[in-house]
Amino acid sequence: MTEPIRIHRSTTRKPKPKDADLGFGQIFTDHMFVADFQEEKGWYDPRIEPYGPLSLDPATAVLHYAQAIFDGLKAFRGVDGKVRLFRPQKHVERLNNSAKRLCIPPIDPDLALQSLLKTVDIDRDWVPSTVGTSLYIRPTIIASEPFLGVRPAKSYIYFVILSPVGAYYPEGMAPVKILVVDKYVRAVDGGVGGAKTSGNYAASLFAADEAKHQGFTQVLWLDGVHRKYIDEVGTMNIMVKIGDEVITPALGGTILPGVTRDSVLTLLRDWGLKATERPIAIDEVVDAHRSGQLKEVFGTGTAAVISPVGELAYKGRRIVVNQGKIGATAQKLYDTIVAIQYGEAPDPHGWTRVV
Ligand SMILES: Cc1ncc(COP(=O)(O)O)c(C=O)c1O
Repeated sequence: MTEPIRIHRSTTRKPKPKDADLGFGQIFTDHMFVADFQEEKGWYDPRIEPYGPLSLDPATAVLHYAQAIFDGLKAFRGVDGKVRLFRPQKHVERLNNSAKRLCIPPIDPDLALQSLLKTVDIDRDWVPSTVGTSLYIRPTIIASEPFLGVRPAKSYIYFVILSPVGAYYPEGMAPVKILVVDKYVRAVDGGVGGAKTSGNYAASLFAADEAKHQGFTQVLWLDGVHRKYIDEVGTMNIMVKIGDEVITPALGGTILPGVTRDSVLTLLRDWGLKATERPIAIDEVVDAHRSGQLKEVFGTGTAAVISPVGELAYKGRRIVVNQGKIGATAQKLYDTIVAIQYGEAPDPHGWTRVV
């Protein structure tokens, strides 16, 4: 049986920023969820407490060997005033899949779901209301054992923090310029690319930084073995529309199974469109562009929902997609998902969960 969540409310309240001043990940709410794990006890003492620093011994395993996982999802305040989380169960499922890959003990999915819902509920006044804004939810697990040996830790901390975030597109959706990298890779077959683990993000910084210096928004990663097949775009899944078919790389362990990716594939199939999951070579994208069949390229992810790609640069060649404009499919997907998130459209798949 799961222990009840203990609640220790903060006696002070932080000032809330204006919706127009919100950025990403800089401001945190009044409370956080915490639970501990010890080998002999399992996960115990689930609690909501005032937001504040964790105290860690400098020898704490996570600080040295990055045995850490996290997830990211959002809560939205709808036009009806209701607060909705988008597909929280799916995020809990992914959190536990990431945990398994990093030898981290899984959390009871009901407890994990409650940790998200209850923490958002306590800090519900922090969910901004302007269209496009949201409350970002970051569940995280770290190895907390002070031990320098390389092996799975015997103790862990699970915490959930919340951050009000501004609209990703304050001036409307805008296509981005992407550099296709073949010098660096994000993930390799048999590695941890399919898990949302901290090291993947540390490993991605160098290439992303180089791309930014060259005037690109992000990188498009190719597979780590052949440097031939497209994997992901920045921290998003990638989709290409060739002719009437939307194609996205199949999940095979190197790609993070995006919740937005899954939602997009479901919608496309609902609409009777052809949506295929298979390996797609960058050369196929180049050829489709040459023959006029490359209709759209876009990223999918919680942060932006849909991010249209207006231009790809590969081996010194520029591939301008859809004249650098937003494609009709990308726009329709964006509008549909956002309307579901804000409670403005029916939710036939039961993706939202009202708090
Ligand atoms: C590497 C990576 N790929 C893809 C995604 C998109 O996943 P989701 O749609 O669940 O946000 C994310 C963001 O979570 C990511 O970090």
